[in-house]
Amino acid sequence: MAIDFDPDLIGALRKARKITVLTGAGVSAESGIPTFRDALTGLWQNFDAAALATPDAFRRDPALVWGWYEWRRMRALAAQPNAAHVAIARLAGRAGHLNLFTQNVDDLHERAGSPDVRHLHGSLHHPRCSGCARPFSLPAAAPVEPEGGRRLAPPSCPACGGAVRPGVVWFNESLPEDILAQAFASCTSSDLLIVVGTSGTVYPVAQLPDVARRAGCPVVQVNPAASELDRACTWNLRGSAAHILPALIGRA
Ligand code: OAD
Repeated sequence: MAIDFDPDLIGALRKARKITVLTGAGVSAESGIPTFRDALTGLWQNFDAAALATPDAFRRDPALVWGWYEWRRMRALAAQPNAAHVAIARLAGRAGHLNLFTQNVDDLHERAGSPDVRHLHGSLHHPRCSGCARPFSLPAAAPVEPEGGRRLAPPSCPACGGAVRPGVVWFNESLPEDILAQAFASCTSSDLLIVVGTSGTVYPVAQLPDVARRAGCPVVQVNPAASELDRACTWNLRGSAAHILPALIGRA
């Protein structure tokens, strides 16, 4: 069924010379990658974030943490981009200028064809040494992991022997400064911000819609549920990303 969009939204989309897109776990939900805060399937409902996603957790039990992230990496590798990832990649080809920022650590935007994806929370696919920070190459595929992973000692860095760690941003860690600065700059200089599938509960990224609005950039949010960002958004489109985004971007 055709979706009725506010004509002002379609007008803003067509007029926009510069667009920023910000995505969260919801954009990959329809690819089968669980979100974090879903009441039934969310990762943080089923696993303890404090035991798995902090620098302390890795120091305490590297094999537990590494095994869990390898399980997530295998799930991400087995998943395919969905219609939302594809629509965003298509918009990048059409809009004069589009910057894509994601909080996701999977590579589904890249595999859908989006150029220059900026990962605010790092990537499952770019581990590095916890000592000297040298990047470490992992095999693309590994054996199928049991649900939640298995204990697995992290590889050792060939340069210094340190434990290799996942290339993600953990709680109590800073986001990559350059990418965060680019996100703020992009939101304040865009003609439209499209926010997809994020609960808006993790800072500093959760500030971006509000920062954009204050700078005069209208914000459209795609999310099947209410989020912390609703008040900051000009338009709240209630529905799944793979349903709404292709229809919206088809009107660009
Ligand atoms: P959350 O799990 O907090 O929120 C996912 C959002 O996606 C929710 O608002 C859902 O309603 C929405 N959603 C679910 N299915 C959707 C669909 N099919 N289409 C569109 N939206 C859908 O995930 P994030 O906001 O990405 O950080 O979480 C932010 C950060 O919190 C993550 O990057 C991660 C996590 O802890 C770290 O690990 C540091």
